[in-house]
Amino acid sequence: MLEHVAGCYPAGVNSFASRVIHWQQCNGRHYLPWKTSRDPYRIWLSEIMLQQTQVATVIPYFERFVARFPTLPQLAAAHEDDVLALWSGLGYYSRARNLHAAARAIVARHPGAFPDTAELIALLPGVGRSTAAAVAALAFGQHCAILDGNVKRVLARHGGVAGWPGDKKVEAALWHLAESLLPPGTLKGTGAIETYTQGMMDLGALVCTRSQPACTTCPLNADCVAHTQRRTAELPTPRPKKVLPERQIQMLLLLDRGELLLEKRPARGIWGGMWSLPELPIDSDPAQHCRERFGLTAKSQHTLPKLSHSFTHFKLHIQPVQLRLAPRLSTLPGQIWLPPADALGAALPAPIRTLVAQLIALTAATCTFSGSML
Ligand code: ADE
Repeated sequence: MLEHVAGCYPAGVNSFASRVIHWQQCNGRHYLPWKTSRDPYRIWLSEIMLQQTQVATVIPYFERFVARFPTLPQLAAAHEDDVLALWSGLGYYSRARNLHAAARAIVARHPGAFPDTAELIALLPGVGRSTAAAVAALAFGQHCAILDGNVKRVLARHGGVAGWPGDKKVEAALWHLAESLLPPGTLKGTGAIETYTQGMMDLGALVCTRSQPACTTCPLNADCVAHTQRRTAELPTPRPKKVLPERQIQMLLLLDRGELLLEKRPARGIWGGMWSLPELPIDSDPAQHCRERFGLTAKSQHTLPKLSHSFTHFKLHIQPVQLRLAPRLSTLPGQIWLPPADALGAALPAPIRTLVAQLIALTAATCTFSGSML
């Protein structure tokens, strides 16, 4: 990042938008891989990947994805399993299923052309108002306001808007503010809205950070309510605390002749369409479950260290249990048996990936002492 110039942005001299644009030109992120073109497909893909996910995490996923599916029609023609496999580890997998469905819808509805207004883009599955506006502004130069998490923080602080931004009334006030601060319509076609939109995102990510914002280098500091009133620690108002419900389950690492059993999750719901491990209630007997549900006989069993994973609405505690099996006679629909190293190439949710990687590490460690555990 270029060096910031401290304290050189007086209020009143330049509008909010012109300060953001100037800051972005000097200090914004210009090296992001989705910024190398105005291809709406790449910009849309990046905006979907960046929902709830940091830039540094997204970059390698984005690069692998566009290497495999360089164009929208290629994504539309893909098998869902391949799309999910490329998303594996990024989380929030409904984003990948919606992306795939949207690619198919665009190819069907608008042959050869990406929808070019925020209103049309917002009709695509998985695209909310802010994402639609970001794509419309960055790819098509449309003058529309964005309001993602970073921008909410910038505006709540600058305008002194109290209340949790997830609250409908607070969100409406922030949308109103976001629209009122856009560069003037007279700048249409000059590139101002593209730079401003990226500038708001980058300012939120690099300067107006959640904790310890770099206010001295901020182009908006002179008239920022939170800065001038020393309220950056209390704005934006945090989400009211709620205790997440917790669920305990067992997950089975079933091994037969060096192969691990994976099961396809139902298309809808948590980890929909991804490959996972069989699960059972925390108080059930794993060997009995294997016999009754799969017709498989366990020869040995041991528990592995527990793992926890937080979803938006609950926390899941997983007790993994490894079972070595007598050779199976058949494979049921929706199941696949793979060597654990190959399983890592499948569309696995992040905690399942962690468990399979642990199994591989454990096996390698055990092999050095007593031969294969698989
Ligand atoms: N977060 C959401 N969209 C972004 C973008 N285009 N650049 C950087 N961070 C983002």
